Amino acid sequence: MHILYEWEPFKKFISQVTGVENIYPYIDSLSPININVNEEGQGLNWHYDNCDFSITLMLQPAKKGGTFEYVPWLRSKDNENYDELDKTLKGENKKVQVLNQSAGTLAFFRGRYSVHRVTPTIGKEPRLITVLAYSTEPNKTITKHTRNIFYGRE
Ligand SMILES: [Fe+2]
Repeated sequence: MHILYEWEPFKKFISQVTGVENIYPYIDSLSPININVNEEGQGLNWHYDNCDFSITLMLQPAKKGGTFEYVPWLRSKDNENYDELDKTLKGENKKVQVLNQSAGTLAFFRGRYSVHRVTPTIGKEPRLITVLAYSTEPNKTITKHTRNIFYGRE
């Protein structure tokens, strides 16, 4: 994954797909590449991302559950759109979409404005997905605070 992460043609490909001209690896030791492991019953609640975009590579989908759901462009820079968010949290938003992913699916996602979640994994086989994070500015790291929240260490 480190080789892929740093590989110039891959970064160029990301740039072409996202339309983001400058793609830079994060320089801290924890945030660039993560493998999320969702054991039985584990998911991720509705949230927005802080980063400009994220790239995931599915390694092993859950046999059941572990579904990536999202509402495209639910909020904007100027409008939090709390009514739609409220509907989403209550399970009443018909705009919720599902991204079907199999092993090897490479997905590009802008999570800053599109609320999203992963439903709990059902069954003994964990859901395994790699998250690759890039910055649009060189020499970026995530903050100490964020490292503590996500990784429990600095
Ligand atoms: Fe996210």
